[in-house]
Amino acid sequence: MSGAVTQGRVRSLTGAARVAAVIGWPVSHSLSPRLHGYWLARHGVDGAYVPLAVRPDSLAQAVRALPHLGFVGANLTLPHKEGALDIVDSVSDAARLIGAINTLIIGSDGLIRGHNTDAEGYLASLLEAVPGFDGRRAVILGAGGAARAVAVALVEHRVTDLLISNRTEQRARELASHLNRHGAGSAAARAIPWPPRPSDLEGAALLVNTTSLGMVGQGPLTLALEGLPRSAAVSDIVYVPLQTPLLQEAAARGHPVCDGLGMLLHQARAGFEAWFGLCPDVTEDLRRHMLAGLQGE
Ligand code: ATR
Repeated sequence: MSGAVTQGRVRSLTGAARVAAVIGWPVSHSLSPRLHGYWLARHGVDGAYVPLAVRPDSLAQAVRALPHLGFVGANLTLPHKEGALDIVDSVSDAARLIGAINTLIIGSDGLIRGHNTDAEGYLASLLEAVPGFDGRRAVILGAGGAARAVAVALVEHRVTDLLISNRTEQRARELASHLNRHGAGSAAARAIPWPPRPSDLEGAALLVNTTSLGMVGQGPLTLALEGLPRSAAVSDIVYVPLQTPLLQEAAARGHPVCDGLGMLLHQARAGFEAWFGLCPDVTEDLRRHMLAGLQGE
């Protein structure tokens, strides 16, 4: 798999290069080509990772064409993560539970397998930022696809008490009952009011924001952290800005914090390994490289 030629700053591919993609609409904002491109160059892999702009009504044709074009796989980003469930040949348990596919792996048999690496990515980033995290109660803000992945990750990590707070309370109730029916094992999930009251945060070991609030261009997340034990970790999946107002306030109160860039980086590792044959690391240099990309460099 190695064999890409690097001369000065020029990296060439051979005719045997492995090719993967990110499929989105639009796709131009995706940071995944920068991320995988870093790892490909860093490890001298004879491979490429390309952005493919695919309209929603062309998704099935595009995905079904991948094995014929020799692709080893792809990531799926907005708005395709749910639509791909009915297109691929098989769906992993995690993807089924989360209700979305973010990674396609094409086998030597030409079959397209759909996975979701967001839960494992979130857990790895949480454990990297808060080593030894082993809490039992977590409060999740939001009830969309990201909240599902975070909830699945936490259940896998022995969290037994999931409190879900969402602006549209009905979605919080639906996510809680989905988890209780299919994914929570011995854990219990329940909806709590939006926004959480200080008393809802008592006893929590983790508060995690999965909504878009706090992101550049979105509204602020206004939440009183009184009630949250000082030992509780605070995590945000928003990474623009990296230090969201929620994380700033949490850090000022002395909480351990976990920013959103870690999930983006860690969720990508499994796909890279499946496509290119080696498991890449998340390093400080990679974080700097991605932050420079976020700042438009
Ligand atoms: P994703 O798959 O990234 O989680 P999503 O399914 O669109 O995206 O979910 C976005 C989440 O952010 C939802 O929980 C949404 O709340 P609603 O279910 O009420 O829409 C939340 N969100 C977005 N904008 C919000 C706002 N202005 N105030 C509160 N919550 C908001």
